[in-house]
Amino acid sequence: MTRIYDALKKAESTRQRLGLGPSPIGAAPGQSPPASWGNSAMEAIPAPLPLLGGVELGEDAVRETTALRVNLESVLADRSPRSLMFTSAQAGEGTSTVALQFAQALAHGSARVLFVDAHARRPVCFADDSQRHAVLDVRVASPSMAGLMTPNLAAMPATEEAVSSGNVPAAVIRAALQSAVGAFDWVIVDGPPVVESPDAATLASLVDGVILVLHAGRAKRPVVARAVEMLRKSGGRVLGTVLNRRVHEIPGFIYRRI
Ligand SMILES: Nc1ncnc2c1ncn2[C@@H]1O[C@H](COP(=O)(O)OP(=O)(O)O)[C@@H](O)[C@H]1O
Ligand SMILES: [Mg+2]
Repeated sequence: MTRIYDALKKAESTRQRLGLGPSPIGAAPGQSPPASWGNSAMEAIPAPLPLLGGVELGEDAVRETTALRVNLESVLADRSPRSLMFTSAQAGEGTSTVALQFAQALAHGSARVLFVDAHARRPVCFADDSQRHAVLDVRVASPSMAGLMTPNLAAMPATEEAVSSGNVPAAVIRAALQSAVGAFDWVIVDGPPVVESPDAATLASLVDGVILVLHAGRAKRPVVARAVEMLRKSGGRVLGTVLNRRVHEIPGFIYRRI
């Protein structure tokens, strides 16, 4: 039995403890699970589903995600699960890509990881027709990962309601975090860009920490400063930044020897 299956089973028992009604994990083989968890008393949250597809995880990304993980493990030593939101000042800086790289790297290291798609206006994963898998959008997916699953990695796609309204309610993220207790080691929230989305700062205050993704050479200092201020004002804890798409001035093969 895979660790992700165990994680999903644990999520189920946590969910039952929270009184959230029937879940897809309990469905008999061949039976279609319901599209969402929850009941009328609480925000419906989508089921965590094994993620089909992934992003490119090159040597540089592995090195950088490892350094980030080690730092975060010490800052968030007492948290379980550790929850992070990746966000950026503006759209297109690589938030989803970096959040997925981090989630995949953690899962490769045997951590149980839940990736939560919280960018309702530009989601990157969708439940497939059978509602048994989350499928990564081709916009970010690596062709070399097509059809492949990362063990230990589950994804919670944005709900149809969130996509049609254009924002993920805070109650959904709260419920997702609660349901992850005991089932996942990390919850990685792929957040909307701060300056463009009024809900981003609120969502940031619900997680243990925020990682700001900056597109190297494109992110402008005043815009980034404004994003940081908005996050801090709402109670978000900015724990780090990732400089995405950094261009190395020296050839990669030399860089790797430094
Ligand atoms: N480091 C990178 N190398 C190559 N392509 C990237 C990288 N980061 C992002 N991209 C590409 O840029 C586009 C926008 O990235 P995405 O992660 O969707 O940004 P955001 O979530 O901030 O809107 C996608 O097509 C993605 O594949
Ligand atoms: Mg995105």
